[in-house]
Amino acid sequence: MHSNNLAIVAALAAAASAFDCNGPYFSFYNRHGPAMSSQRLDPALFPGKQSPHMHDFDGGNALTPDVSFEGLQGSECTTARIKPDNSLYWRPALYWNGNGTGFYPVPNSFLKVYYKFGDNDNVKAKNISEFPEDFSMIAGDTFRRSEDEKNEAGIDWTCIAEDYSRITAKGFPTGFTSCGQGLTTQLTFPSCWNGNAINPAKPDAHMAYPTAGGSGIDACPKDFQAARFPAIFIEFWWDVSAFDGQYSANDNPWVLAQGDPTGFGMHADFKNGWKKGVLAKATSDDGYCNCGCGCGDDQMRQCFGVENVNNDADIANCSAKSVFPSETGVVQKLPGCNPIQDGPEEATMASGPDCTAVAPGAGNATSAVASATSAAASVISSAVSQAIGAVSNIVATIADVEPTAIPESSPESSPNATPATPSVSQSRHGHHQYHTTAPVDAESSECTSAATVTVTPPPVTVTVTATAAGGYAVDRRRRRQN
Ligand SMILES: *[C@@H]1O[C@H](CO)[C@@H](O)[C@H](O)[C@H]1NC(C)=O
Ligand SMILES: *[C@@H]1O[C@H](CO)[C@@H](O)[C@H](O)[C@H]1NC(C)=O
Ligand SMILES: *[C@@H]1O[C@H](CO)[C@@H](O)[C@H](O)[C@H]1NC(C)=O
Ligand SMILES: *[C@@H]1O[C@H](CO)[C@@H](O)[C@H](O)[C@H]1NC(C)=O
Repeated sequence: MHSNNLAIVAALAAAASAFDCNGPYFSFYNRHGPAMSSQRLDPALFPGKQSPHMHDFDGGNALTPDVSFEGLQGSECTTARIKPDNSLYWRPALYWNGNGTGFYPVPNSFLKVYYKFGDNDNVKAKNISEFPEDFSMIAGDTFRRSEDEKNEAGIDWTCIAEDYSRITAKGFPTGFTSCGQGLTTQLTFPSCWNGNAINPAKPDAHMAYPTAGGSGIDACPKDFQAARFPAIFIEFWWDVSAFDGQYSANDNPWVLAQGDPTGFGMHADFKNGWKKGVLAKATSDDGYCNCGCGCGDDQMRQCFGVENVNNDADIANCSAKSVFPSETGVVQKLPGCNPIQDGPEEATMASGPDCTAVAPGAGNATSAVASATSAAASVISSAVSQAIGAVSNIVATIADVEPTAIPESSPESSPNATPATPSVSQSRHGHHQYHTTAPVDAESSECTSAATVTVTPPPVTVTVTATAAGGYAVDRRRRRQN
């Protein structure tokens, strides 16, 4: 019953850089369906507060605005495949606004997380460290709206068609009207540390990518040799089939939660919640876990112990409580103060009761907030928290409904069962389950086998503004014509 776990594959990774699936990596993926939780939280950059934009979370369910390492250890469950991994993995929510009737949350289909600890990918790097307690980091830049020449995180987007043909671009790709296997993006976190804690005003300052040449810690730039961690690489997959044919090949109907219609502002955050010793053992020079990019349950049990591997039901049952009133569902404006900013210049943080006040350049209070996740930020002041508070207060009347789906696991189900449609209902019971074939990497035979995953769109609650649509026709068009 776990055979479906074997097959979800390094489709993007293998295509992008042709790394050997059998190198010094291990990989796992979360539930086949919605994220553990969708909430306006950011425990790394906005601890203790409601965050400026909506995030999808996976990992340990002890999620709170200011959860600590200790707090994460108290998680009742995790959507990571490895039970001792109560880390949090979060990224902006993705919306579709292709027909002018609102922002439709795009359901996650799953994400796949790799821990890579090789030099030049294939030689085990010596002296890999586990993450310290209360360690957080970010990859990507929420304010970016144009192509990043360096793109150290290796961010790009791919529409994977039913037949696994791909259209890839650095930002949101166009040239299609459906992505049968999913719309995906990927990124790599930095892995070289300077020994400091994260600074919310310059959240990428404490980390660097291993670009210095050499091996082991020497591959890290000189000022970032306090430790070399495993490099976390994540593939994010969304099921976009509900929108098939409702946008034209020339249009871009996608927007990230921070008001980014370009895709260049993709980013993700990690907060360490690994039980101490487990990651160190899995990456130790002797006996490291090297099941590569297609780790199956048996391999995971070998690496981490039978009792430490979650099955699909464990993962499917895992959700986190909504801290602030729920903002899930179709919305008339992006939750928070996130007007669409299409660049190419760097985006700014909007504020004010109607979100029209745009922060001026660096040096002013609101701009300090705007720069909070920007490498360019150089000033942080107490005004930051005031401005953040102001942003948080803009939340309109919101229905308080638990946002989290509890999907059922049914790996045996056939593909193409019910068409994919986000359920639209005012209740938490709108689970319209459907199934889709797991992605299989056509280019990497080592990691290829067929599988089925279950994808359950999150129950949709119409929220946020008083004018939010109370109901709209559920589109039940088929994903594809046979
Ligand atoms: C790895 O760590 C050990 C023990 O801390 C140390 O003796 C050794 O020199 C380190 N090796 C490298 C390549 O840094
Ligand atoms: C807009 O798209 C959504 C999602 O597919 C669909 O349910 C809705 O009916 C569409 N609205 C209009 C006016 O076409
Ligand atoms: C900051 O705000 C003040 C007052 O609104 C303005 O005069 C000044 O030019 C701003 N500074 C920058 C760097 O934009
Ligand atoms: C977990 O999910 C299974 C299958 O959907 C269900 O039977 C079980 O009651 C759930 N357990 C909990 C604790 O929710």
